[in-house]
Amino acid sequence: MIKISNITKKYNPKKSNEFEALHGVSCEINDGELVAVIGKSGAGKSTLLHILACIDNYQEGEYTIDGTLVKNLSEKQYAKIRNEKIGMVMQDFALVEDFTALENVMIPLNFSKQKIKNKKEKALAALKSVGIGELAKKPCNKLSGGQKQRVAIARAIVNEPSMILADEPTGALDTKTSAEIMALFKSLNKQGRTVVIVTHDPKIAEQCDRIIEISDGRIVK
Ligand SMILES: Nc1ncnc2c1ncn2[C@@H]1O[C@H](COP(=O)(O)OP(=O)(O)OP(=O)(O)O)[C@@H](O)[C@H]1O
Ligand SMILES: [Mg+2]
Repeated sequence: MIKISNITKKYNPKKSNEFEALHGVSCEINDGELVAVIGKSGAGKSTLLHILACIDNYQEGEYTIDGTLVKNLSEKQYAKIRNEKIGMVMQDFALVEDFTALENVMIPLNFSKQKIKNKKEKALAALKSVGIGELAKKPCNKLSGGQKQRVAIARAIVNEPSMILADEPTGALDTKTSAEIMALFKSLNKQGRTVVIVTHDPKIAEQCDRIIEISDGRIVK
């Protein structure tokens, strides 16, 4: 289970351009839940997701993952949590464009502190599980938006994290591809993974177990 209590996030703290993006936000997400995060542009959805993914810090409040307090940890400890527990799909995919699909999916395996055997096979299995095994050797700059999204999802799941966080995973996709990507998240959730999806699309949100709505840095629903 993940739990945040009274989280306050400031960008550029103590500087003239300080901006408080989250004002004391609290919520809990249980293991195995499929949750949508909705809200207007600039509401703080990505900010919240980045904190949940342990890729950004916060000033006040507490964040615990499975009972462990996530604050002031060493970079090594953060890396361990990210690697073992969290799979993140970024708003802009964040793929290395001139790497192949397979090379992109291998990145988290190469970053892992543990010795991982059969990295190529693992990465290929992740690509197959998202339906694009045949594209393994294609450079990402030659893939369509939906295909890139699948590569980003394969990269997020290759370490078998317990939690998948996806920022607007269908934002740039047509209706059909978007439905396919959502089906993929639902099947990952059915396998027991916690899935949190930031979305603007009511059709995506209504397929989730629960909807968290953010407005101006506060959870309003
Ligand atoms: N690095 C940053 N430095 C300063 N302010 C930032 C930074 N990142 C985000 N903000 C501000 O924090 C607020 C929340 O941004 P955030 O990216 O979380 O919004 P969002 O809900 O994800 O929006 P969108 O739907 O457009 O992606 C916005 O007002 C934004 O301008
Ligand atoms: Mg965003």
